[in-house]
Amino acid sequence: MNTVLPNDVHAAWLPPEAFRALGSRRSLVCGEGTLVDTVRHELARACARYGGSTDQPHPRPDAPPSDDRPAAGTSYELVFALVPAGLLPIAAAAVEVVYRRRHGAGALGEEGFLLARHAEVTVVLAEAPAGLLHGLFHLVRLGESAFGLTRPMELHRPAMRLRMLDHWDNVDVHPVMGQVERGYAGGSIFWQDGARREDLTRVGAYGRLLAAGGVNAVSVNNVNVHATEARLLTDRLGDVAAFADVLRPYGIRVHLSVSFAAPVTLGGLPTADPLDDGVRGWWADTTKQVYESIPDFGGYVVKADSEGQPGPFGYGRSHADGANVLADALAPFGGVVHWRAFVYNHRQDWRDRSTDRARAAHDHFAPLDGQFRDNVILQVKHGPMDFQPREPISPVIAAMPRTRLAVEFQVTQEYTGQQRHVCYLAPWWSEVLGFAPWGDDGPTVAAVAAGGPADGGGLVAVSNVGDDPFWTGHPLAQANLYAFGRLAWDPRLDPAAVLDEWIELTFAGASPGGPGPVRRALHAIMDDSWRTYERYTAPLGVGFMVRPGHHYGPDVDGYEYTPWGTYHFADRDGVGVDRTRASGTGFTGQFPPPWRDVYESIESCPDELLLFFHHVPYGHVLHNGSTVIQHIYDTHFDGVEQVAAMRQRWERLDGVVDPGVHARVRERLDEQLRCAEEWRDQINAYFFRKSGVPDARGRRIH
Ligand code: GCU
Repeated sequence: MNTVLPNDVHAAWLPPEAFRALGSRRSLVCGEGTLVDTVRHELARACARYGGSTDQPHPRPDAPPSDDRPAAGTSYELVFALVPAGLLPIAAAAVEVVYRRRHGAGALGEEGFLLARHAEVTVVLAEAPAGLLHGLFHLVRLGESAFGLTRPMELHRPAMRLRMLDHWDNVDVHPVMGQVERGYAGGSIFWQDGARREDLTRVGAYGRLLAAGGVNAVSVNNVNVHATEARLLTDRLGDVAAFADVLRPYGIRVHLSVSFAAPVTLGGLPTADPLDDGVRGWWADTTKQVYESIPDFGGYVVKADSEGQPGPFGYGRSHADGANVLADALAPFGGVVHWRAFVYNHRQDWRDRSTDRARAAHDHFAPLDGQFRDNVILQVKHGPMDFQPREPISPVIAAMPRTRLAVEFQVTQEYTGQQRHVCYLAPWWSEVLGFAPWGDDGPTVAAVAAGGPADGGGLVAVSNVGDDPFWTGHPLAQANLYAFGRLAWDPRLDPAAVLDEWIELTFAGASPGGPGPVRRALHAIMDDSWRTYERYTAPLGVGFMVRPGHHYGPDVDGYEYTPWGTYHFADRDGVGVDRTRASGTGFTGQFPPPWRDVYESIESCPDELLLFFHHVPYGHVLHNGSTVIQHIYDTHFDGVEQVAAMRQRWERLDGVVDPGVHARVRERLDEQLRCAEEWRDQINAYFFRKSGVPDARGRRIH
């Protein structure tokens, strides 16, 4: 296992300094397995740097088995143990006894761990190896405070069993989308110019970073599966197996995006009809071969009947038929199929006011509830449209109680500044995860994704990583990747506290004056950066005022007369999409109460979603007392001022943080300011010209 990074690659949230507290202590690791070995390697490397020692209760070759015990006379400060274990040092044994008495066996599950401090020993117990690995990284986060005088016993278990990142990486460089579709951080860490990268050091290091955040699954190719990429399932499977080998030591399972047409394009069958016996047999045989070479393979990801991808509709079959044939092939091996619910008509006529893209996923999938196999996970984008900076939650999340649902986020900042803008997304995700689709007394979105007594589908996100030296193009975009894993592990975490963790780790020891100034500056810059982005871009939830194609920067009417179903309907009197039952597309009716009524009424619809649900006159008065038109002007002027303030704040860190990081962020902030000004001026000019209403504060509108 080699995770030592080339010198020019940033260590992200695992710089060596983050391991100082662990590496300077005497530790013992009891247990066996690949992931336990990873814990040992991590400790050994840290100890080599910081002077501690790490030990394991291996029997001496000449000793009788009963002598399988910790070296006598060594007093450990830190013990990791897989339980039930053999002989443990007294402190760890005492913790184990209390754990058993309180919780009984099995409480920690496959990935959980228990942390306690007893008799001046910090003890991490787990019942499965992955738990020890998560425990290790938890201690890295805690640093010295893991060794304080007292620490009550804590039990940590992930809220979601599946915490997955999807890579939209292409094997071949796509003529339009490039090596990584919607990638803003250079090339792919997996693929280069049509082939798997030979040196997988960065893939291993990536797995280590992900494990430290809590992610446990990765899919290694784009959901838009082109010809070369389709072959990863068959004759190029070795590439996928190579990634699995490198990621396995960090507890990360590999998944693969596959083409629904594979039985035809790869198997030479005349059809990919999911009800055809030959097709079923082909998927079963092919999948068996996958597991022969990757025994812990996670499963398939499928984008079907969406934006030109093949799917079951081509054969007059339902998406349940389509998903189930793959699920049946995977079931004997414990695999799952992530079936995406992002299905809509991308060739609609803009003149047709009755078709509403927001309705599409619910229209297609809600009637299929209960028809999917247990190992189908329906992967639903968190909003009904497409990762805009503000959307309501997708009503599909509340409509399929008998289906395992995964909620999909987008860490890659396609619509949130493309990693040229600072936009810390955790506050947005946290809002979505904490949203209660059935009202305050009901479960949250996070609870739906986590599942009830049976497993839910978990949380999935599109990764923002590439071969850029900072991993994510914008160094501060690393925080989004980190936060995604943490929120998938525990959706109740406070986004500001998660940011704090990320700052502490990433800038550990990097600033001579201690972490205080860096922490204060980064909170000032990042805490509210998503709302700042929202202020200077498309107003009040209407979305999609971006340049068509690449989706960067403003173009108010860019999508207005296109087939994509993304319209704002601005005219001289007003703006917004009428999605009410009373007079619009009826989308509000896809929500359960209370939201179907909250959104239906202009009076109760939250301001930030007003234009998503309603077409209103410019003079409409918002709950905040401002008219819609004045709100547009005010937020756009404010948003730009806030970006200017962010930039100034960052300047003050010159000489405090690493010069390379400083220079890169400065360059990005310059671009963010330029782009925010462009947004402000285009949006304000557009609405001033449409409405003829001047800015009440007399500011300059072009
Ligand atoms: C967006 C994005 C596409 C992507 C699609 C998806 O529309 O622009 O590049 O393929 O989402 O999620 O499948």
